[in-house]
Amino acid sequence: MAHHLLKALIPALILGGAAAALSAPRKPFSHKYHLKQVTSCENCHKDAAASTKAGDNLLPDSMACVTCHDEVEIGQPNRSGVDKFNHSIHVEMGNLAAVLSAAVKAKTYLGSDPPSAEELAKIQDPCTACHRGIPSSDSVPHGQKTAAHFPHMADCLVCHAEIRPPDSCGKCHVESTPNFRPATHTQEFVDRHGDKDFPRQGCAVCHGRKFTCKGCH
Ligand code: HEC
Ligand code: HEC
Ligand code: HEC
Ligand code: HEC
Ligand code: HEC
Ligand code: HEC
Ligand code: HEC
Repeated sequence: MAHHLLKALIPALILGGAAAALSAPRKPFSHKYHLKQVTSCENCHKDAAASTKAGDNLLPDSMACVTCHDEVEIGQPNRSGVDKFNHSIHVEMGNLAAVLSAAVKAKTYLGSDPPSAEELAKIQDPCTACHRGIPSSDSVPHGQKTAAHFPHMADCLVCHAEIRPPDSCGKCHVESTPNFRPATHTQEFVDRHGDKDFPRQGCAVCHGRKFTCKGCH
């Protein structure tokens, strides 16, 4: 009796299971989880270390997944705000965490949210100093940049220390507004920039630390 009941139930269970698998939303790709399974970034991102252009697609193809998954979906790459970048030159320099850490400690790091020395000290590979949010990331949303997955402009300026707008900007950007002027720099902004109470936060990343009245006047 019990045996018959089970036999009748099996096809229903299989069908029910298949329907559930088809309709269940796919979980996003988790670096946090997969870095316990696959130790090196380059096992999956095998084109990254040799890449010479910012526009290269460095996402893995399904060959990086076939040992464990029959079927996967991999999206299109998200762009960061930079136009010119060469992974090959920078990856060859090895783990850059110590260089960033030295700048943070010396207070020459220009960004308003510097990485912590402890966070940097944990980094062992040649990728994570720039991609600091990846080891704790649970998903890669498509069509939308996740700032934590990419380096900050201030990270680059630790080494590319010449700041002379607009000329120095062309090292990493293609000019999209005349003289790279940001949208914040309206006529009203310029009229008010000498006021005592004018906010000066975030100016250093484009104008450097020696951003004084005398510097321009
Ligand atoms: C198991 C394979 C695998 C490993 C290991 C792996 N990645 Fe990824 N990575 C992926 C996949 C898959 C995506 C893209 C997911 C998508 O867009 O569908 C991705 C996306 C990314 C992105 C783009 C993120 C974004 O927001 O657009 C960066 C940057 C990245 N990985 C860096 C790294 C770094 C650095 C490491 C090592 C610390 C690493 N990955 C390890 C598979 C991997
Ligand atoms: C060493 C084995 C291994 C490799 C290689 C691997 N994965 Fe996974 N992956 C797993 C395991 C184990 C799970 C968790 C079990 C599960 O949910 O299937 C998982 C879960 C997932 C999930 C969430 C569950 C789902 O299917 O909705 C996605 C998405 C995923 N992997 C994508 C990828 C992609 C893309 C690659 C290749 C770039 C990859 N994995 C490479 C072992 C691996
Ligand atoms: C000096 C900083 C730096 C280092 C080191 C670095 N990256 Fe990147 N990476 C970047 C920048 C900048 C971008 C954004 C490029 C763009 O937007 O086109 C990027 C983009 C990516 C992407 C995004 C996906 C894509 O197709 O554009 C992946 C994946 C990636 N890097 C993987 C790696 C891996 C793997 C390593 C180590 C072998 C590594 N990176 C080392 C700065 C770095
Ligand atoms: C550890 C120091 C260091 C850091 C951090 C660093 N760079 Fe570089 N970068 C160099 C050196 C050294 C060179 C080779 C000499 C040169 O062209 O300036 C270079 C070269 C370049 C070049 C010229 C590449 C070519 O093909 O000729 C670009 C563009 C560039 N870096 C952009 C960036 C960006 C964007 C970042 C941040 C995501 C960054 N760099 C972070 C040291 C660094
Ligand atoms: C050595 C490389 C480098 C130089 C030089 C540089 N930048 Fe950047 N910049 C970056 C990187 C990398 C990003 C992307 C990271 C981010 O958005 O925080 C960025 C982001 C930006 C953004 C935000 C873009 C976006 O779409 O999110 C603006 C605006 C910008 N830079 C303006 C400038 C200006 C103006 C100069 C000259 C004073 C300059 N940059 C010099 C590397 C550089
Ligand atoms: C994203 C980069 C960026 C940031 C952040 C930034 N600036 Fe600028 N700024 C520029 C560039 C590029 C120019 C144009 C340089 C040129 O044409 O000579 C400029 C020009 C100026 C000028 C000259 C006025 C003019 O009309 O050319 C003043 C004053 C100025 N900025 C003030 C500030 C102040 C104050 C802050 C902080 C609140 C700030 N900027 C933040 C990029 C930036
Ligand atoms: C990045 C260069 C830069 C810096 C730094 C700078 N200025 Fe200026 N300033 C300019 C430029 C360029 C103009 C002319 C703008 C115009 O007339 O369009 C100007 C114009 C002025 C004016 C006339 C404003 C008006 O109504 O036209 C005053 C006042 C002034 N600046 C005061 C200051 C004071 C005070 C400081 C320091 C807190 C300062 N500036 C820092 C570039 C700068």
